[in-house]
Amino acid sequence: MDLTAPYLPDLESIPAGLDLPAEIRRLKAERKAVILGHYYQEPEIQDLADFVGDSLQLSQQAAKTAADVIAFCGVHFMAETAKILNPTKTVVIPDMDAGCSLADRCPADHFAEWLKQYPDHDVVSYINCSAGVKALSTVICTSSNAERVVNSLPKDRKLVFAPDRHLGKWVMKQTGRDMVLFPGFCIVHEQFTAKRLAALKAQHPEAKLIAHPECDATVSQLADFVGSTAALLNYVEKDRAKAFIVATEAGILHQMRLRRPEAELIPAPADSGCNCSLCPYMKLNSLEKLYLCLRDLKPEIHLEESLRVQALKPLERMLALG
Ligand code: 13P
Ligand code: SF4
Repeated sequence: MDLTAPYLPDLESIPAGLDLPAEIRRLKAERKAVILGHYYQEPEIQDLADFVGDSLQLSQQAAKTAADVIAFCGVHFMAETAKILNPTKTVVIPDMDAGCSLADRCPADHFAEWLKQYPDHDVVSYINCSAGVKALSTVICTSSNAERVVNSLPKDRKLVFAPDRHLGKWVMKQTGRDMVLFPGFCIVHEQFTAKRLAALKAQHPEAKLIAHPECDATVSQLADFVGSTAALLNYVEKDRAKAFIVATEAGILHQMRLRRPEAELIPAPADSGCNCSLCPYMKLNSLEKLYLCLRDLKPEIHLEESLRVQALKPLERMLALG
């Protein structure tokens, strides 16, 4: 497959009037497939998934699945992680172009050059990176376990954290460890600003502000709670506040609504004035494309074996931490 050309799903081959959810369920059984979905997926995809979770939970599910086929409704690095863990399984993704600004802006060759400045450092890489970057890393982390992963490394080791500088800064604050930060960021979370959110908080004094650690430090400081998508969901479920301002991708609101239907959920606005904060990559996936990937078993994730083996080591090190 030519990865430089845009992925063009054969949408016209889908018969008119097809009951897509029913067909997806039928194909899933026929293929012995499991559908894994991230919290940022469209609600109709989340509702069809066998498991919906954050990056850590989804990689744990991928590591233990007995299915023959993994249909990964998330972005490319997530499906690629599933393939690293399951070389003999077929891993498909509804849209091959579902990338991630963090992963895409940290190509492995560039990262290898950048790392030459820090030859005596251990490398902690956020799971939002390519297999090539994983292969250059000591250990992988997600936003759920980054503190635990960093704390697991000997205190006398010098550390590099990549590719998200905001998560890295947040982890430095939580652990008290100094780290060299790769200057990457997420285009969705970068749009939230403390100024706009402080004004929104003033309008909704009853609401708690909750934020993903990919947000800028000024937003994290203002927030009542900072955590991964799963942690934010858990917080909304357990905390008795009647309203929440949610500073992460708005797809998570679907599960929040299911668990706290009576709570007011206010998606944090981007500073540009737009009131929605949607990840353009996550939203490339659709029910039609999920149907096609289960029907045709493509687009499929392929990985060169030597790269897979190198990328597996730091990933297994993370998974071993629980
Ligand atoms: P989580 O691991 O918190 O689900 O985050 C994934 C992600 O891409 C956040 O933008
Ligand atoms: Fe990547 Fe940001 Fe989209 Fe998450 S929200 S997948 S970090 S671009």
